[in-house]
Amino acid sequence: MGVVHLGLLTMFVTLLLHFCNIDYGDNHVTAHQSTNPDLKQGFQFFIDNTNDDFFDDNNNNNKNDSLSNSFRVSSSNGTSTITTTTTRLLSSSILEIARRPETIEWIKSIRREIHEYPELAYEEFETNRLIRRELDRMGVGYRLSPMAETGIRASVGTGGPPFVAIRADMDALPIQESVEWEHKSKVAGKMHACGHDAHVAMLLGAAKILKNREYHLKGTVVLLFQPAEEAGIGAKRMIEDGALEDVEAIFAAHVSHQHPTSVIGSRPGPLLAGCGFFRAVITRMRVESASHTTTHVDTILAASAAVISLQNIVSREANPLDSQVVSVASFNGGGNDIDMNDPKTVVLGGTFRAFSNASIHQIRRRIEDIYILISVIVEQASVYRCTATVDFFEKKQPIYPPTVNDEKMYEHVKKVAVDLLGPNNFNVVRPMMGAEDFSFYSEVVPASAFFYIGIRNETLGSIHSGHSPYFMIDENALPVGAAVHAAIAERYLNEHG
Ligand SMILES: *[C@@H]1O[C@H](CO)[C@@H](O)[C@H](O)[C@H]1NC(C)=O
Ligand SMILES: *[C@@H]1O[C@H](CO)[C@@H](O)[C@H](O)[C@H]1NC(C)=O
Ligand SMILES: *[C@@H]1O[C@H](CO)[C@@H](O)[C@H](O)[C@H]1NC(C)=O
Ligand SMILES: *[C@@H]1O[C@H](CO)[C@@H](O)[C@H](O)[C@H]1NC(C)=O
Ligand SMILES: [Zn+2]
Repeated sequence: MGVVHLGLLTMFVTLLLHFCNIDYGDNHVTAHQSTNPDLKQGFQFFIDNTNDDFFDDNNNNNKNDSLSNSFRVSSSNGTSTITTTTTRLLSSSILEIARRPETIEWIKSIRREIHEYPELAYEEFETNRLIRRELDRMGVGYRLSPMAETGIRASVGTGGPPFVAIRADMDALPIQESVEWEHKSKVAGKMHACGHDAHVAMLLGAAKILKNREYHLKGTVVLLFQPAEEAGIGAKRMIEDGALEDVEAIFAAHVSHQHPTSVIGSRPGPLLAGCGFFRAVITRMRVESASHTTTHVDTILAASAAVISLQNIVSREANPLDSQVVSVASFNGGGNDIDMNDPKTVVLGGTFRAFSNASIHQIRRRIEDIYILISVIVEQASVYRCTATVDFFEKKQPIYPPTVNDEKMYEHVKKVAVDLLGPNNFNVVRPMMGAEDFSFYSEVVPASAFFYIGIRNETLGSIHSGHSPYFMIDENALPVGAAVHAAIAERYLNEHG
């Protein structure tokens, strides 16, 4: 919590309150000395009429402090002050809920429970059950028929438009956890090594905050719990099952060991690469020579030429300002038999990545070319006397589009993060070659943005990248992440409702 500048926010509100003489009608805003040890400085705000009992969720329906729509400001310049003050109060109210000791304890316990029982793609049945258990407890409704096997679409708000979605992925990885701690994975060979346990906990945290503030919402927040991000493109199945119905904007976050705890990072435009996979099989042709002896045909040499040609797609053909990767990750032929220097087939496998939709499909075409059509290899086939076929696994694994942040939605995330956490806790990041199936949502709902939440803490040792068996997170990021999610959604509705 050390990075959140609540003190500054509340001081600002205090000044506004003193100088602008805000009248909240029947409600009262009071500033008083904080008793919360997390809040080392300044004051904490309470809006008297908000439901202070975070866990008594059935109790808030009749309460209506109309924070954002009924107060009057008697200053010389009303409009901008109302907007600023509303935003500050929204931010501090959301943070106040997120930082209650019981919220922090609850959100950590959710994350730990999921962490202990990791489930792989499309097997997230216990995770699904846990999410529904928590949604039921807080009185948040969800579609009864599951989406994409184990996915859930829940919603909070008016039930009417606009609809803004936030997504969390749920799946773990086939990795044996090497971190020795109290809540280490209890399932051999499976681990939440990418922080999706934290994503679920933060989205449930956001659900709780938003349910608590439901009477402020000017539309509907759709909470998407998605299976199979790591494998199997759960996003695509979620969309097919109606996850994006009525949704006009969508956001999602990923924890990141590259940013200190609770620091938010994002960028406008391309953020993560589009990505495809290929597997090519290079086979020796039978060639009879005039003397009826079979000539020597070198599949290894042909495959090596193919690898070089693939590298040329990037080094010679690509625009150097548009980062691209073609990477051959496996090369198999001839087994371990070093005497058999002429294997009948060689199999190459690899991935290709780029930051624009046009580039990724262009690379795909070029790889295909190389193997099948106009290609270097077919030209070379007469030299090497081989045939080549290539498979892009598109039925099972369609090419991922790049994740490209809409400028306006990026600005929204940035504004919310800065208002909530202060300008020092927002970083503009560089594009990364990793891929995310969030991009399938963005294809359908272009008003979208993806962002990072820092979990790096040298003291704790949360310094390892995702997919490492040593991956761990600083759980202090969880309540902050919940608050950021909630504020992004609530403010989106305020501005578009
Ligand atoms: C809350 O109060 C405002 C202003 O008095 C009113 O317009 C709105 O309908 C009320 N909402 C609820 C849920 O009672
Ligand atoms: C109030 O402030 C805003 C922004 O500073 C300005 O654009 C607007 O003209 C001001 N309105 C009045 C009535 O002074
Ligand atoms: C990307 O290109 C593919 C193939 O041309 C197309 O089907 C898809 O809709 C495109 N996506 C975007 C976001 O332009
Ligand atoms: C790292 O974690 C320790 C232990 O929870 C905490 O005291 C410290 O403030 C954290 N550092 C940051 C940068 O959040
Ligand atoms: Zn991940």
